[in-house]
Amino acid sequence: MRPGVFISFEGIDGAGKSTHIKPLADALRDQGRTVTLTREPGGTPLAESIRDLALNQAMDPLSEALLMFAARRDHLRLVIEPALAAGQVVLCDRFTDATFAYQGAGRGFDLAVLSQLERWVQALPDGTLRQPDLTLLFELAPETAAQRLAGSRKPDKFESQPVAFFRSVAAGYDQRANADPSRFARIAADRSREAVWGDVLSVVRQKGWL
Ligand code: TMP
Repeated sequence: MRPGVFISFEGIDGAGKSTHIKPLADALRDQGRTVTLTREPGGTPLAESIRDLALNQAMDPLSEALLMFAARRDHLRLVIEPALAAGQVVLCDRFTDATFAYQGAGRGFDLAVLSQLERWVQALPDGTLRQPDLTLLFELAPETAAQRLAGSRKPDKFESQPVAFFRSVAAGYDQRANADPSRFARIAADRSREAVWGDVLSVVRQKGWL
């Protein structure tokens, strides 16, 4: 059996990451891989209920962070870990880097507390932490992302934040990527959909997964 592969997609709202998840799932399935396509917060009935709360209700940053990690715990136990154990590819639209970027850098919440929550929630039996094998970080100027979002569906609590919030979120992602460069691939998302897709494919091919 081939080992499981865990790929997360990250970026500020409007960076276009979600456009490329399904095509990547299709490309991997064409090569005979079984793919679980999922998202955070969400991916299980409980975590989807938490998503609805976290994205639509006002709350303090600690409550927000705890809800994100509660949803993640359920998602890991019920979906991500079983899929990886079965040798599947898991494509996840956001994971813990989003919590560091949005609740940490965006809301200004204590990064040390987030790191502790990360250690509790993502601990594996051998003492290591579950992290994605690859994180595709879609990078786009917050002003451009805001223009792309304008006029789309009704914005949720995060999408309706001002551009300054997304500048902080982007800085938070940048910090996470600098701290773990071998896990991250930065994708310049200010280009045509085809050009961005070409980069996604080449990063995954370089890893030998396509
Ligand atoms: P999505 O619109 O890309 O599905 O993401 C949902 C929103 O939730 C997005 O605005 C980012 C936010 N979010 C957090 O604030 N913290 C998290 O840990 C996650 C996973 C998402």
